Amino acid sequence: MERLKRFFNSSIGLKMVVALTGAPLLFFVIGHMLGNLQIFMGQDQINNYAKGLHDLPALLWGARIGLIVLFVSHIGAATRLNMMNASARPVQYHHEKTVQASLASRYMLLTGGVVLGFMVLHVLHFTLHAFDPQVTGYHDYAGRHDVYRMVVEGFTGFKGVLWVTLYVVCNVMLGFHLSHGASSLFQSLGVNHPTYTPMLKMAGPGIAITIVVGNLAIPLACLVGIIPLPGGGS
Ligand code: HEM
Repeated sequence: MERLKRFFNSSIGLKMVVALTGAPLLFFVIGHMLGNLQIFMGQDQINNYAKGLHDLPALLWGARIGLIVLFVSHIGAATRLNMMNASARPVQYHHEKTVQASLASRYMLLTGGVVLGFMVLHVLHFTLHAFDPQVTGYHDYAGRHDVYRMVVEGFTGFKGVLWVTLYVVCNVMLGFHLSHGASSLFQSLGVNHPTYTPMLKMAGPGIAITIVVGNLAIPLACLVGIIPLPGGGS
């Protein structure tokens, strides 16, 4: 028990917690993006998908609780690691490489903070309908919650421009965060291979760009009318 406590209070242990909680969060972001991209297949498809998720409350709540635990552990361990690194280095180094490394970690906290702020606004926006309470009453011809209309209306008009701008800024920040996070994932877990480690390092930016492009395609397509407002419903 004492050994475990010491491990999780060490820099290596905290790095492992950050990596082990970051990996499933990365999978969530990819899964969420793939689910959301179904909006390009029409109102019926995305509303059916959303209904499918809401019809499985045990799975939905299990996933929500799992996500909260992962987020809290990820943020807690990353913040503690950063504080430990800062207190172990009261005087700034002058060596260029070390300065670069400390800049990268500071930048991870900043981009991570932006992503956290975005998540709060995003859940208030599309899950709790705090900014447009009328969307709770949106239903399609089949009586399903009209997620399609909620999303397209959310990204249309003057208010839509403001939301799309926020989504662009925050998703680019998410991209930077994931790029560095995915690249260093295996190294944090102690996996070091002469061939695969450099390949995995290169995969990080590729994964991040794919996620940013996939995510931003939706608000931008709504804004310019490629994904049109629905005709019917209530
Ligand atoms: C930019 C494109 C995105 C779109 C169009 C989008 C769309 C949505 C929609 C429609 C919902 C509500 C689903 C429902 O209640 O049926 C939702 C929920 C959510 N989204 Fe996103 N999302 C996007 C990006 C993101 C990103 C980048 C993250 C995380 C970093 C994220 C995290 C979440 C979370 C945590 C929920 C709450 C899930 C729940 O418990 O109901 N989303 N999103």
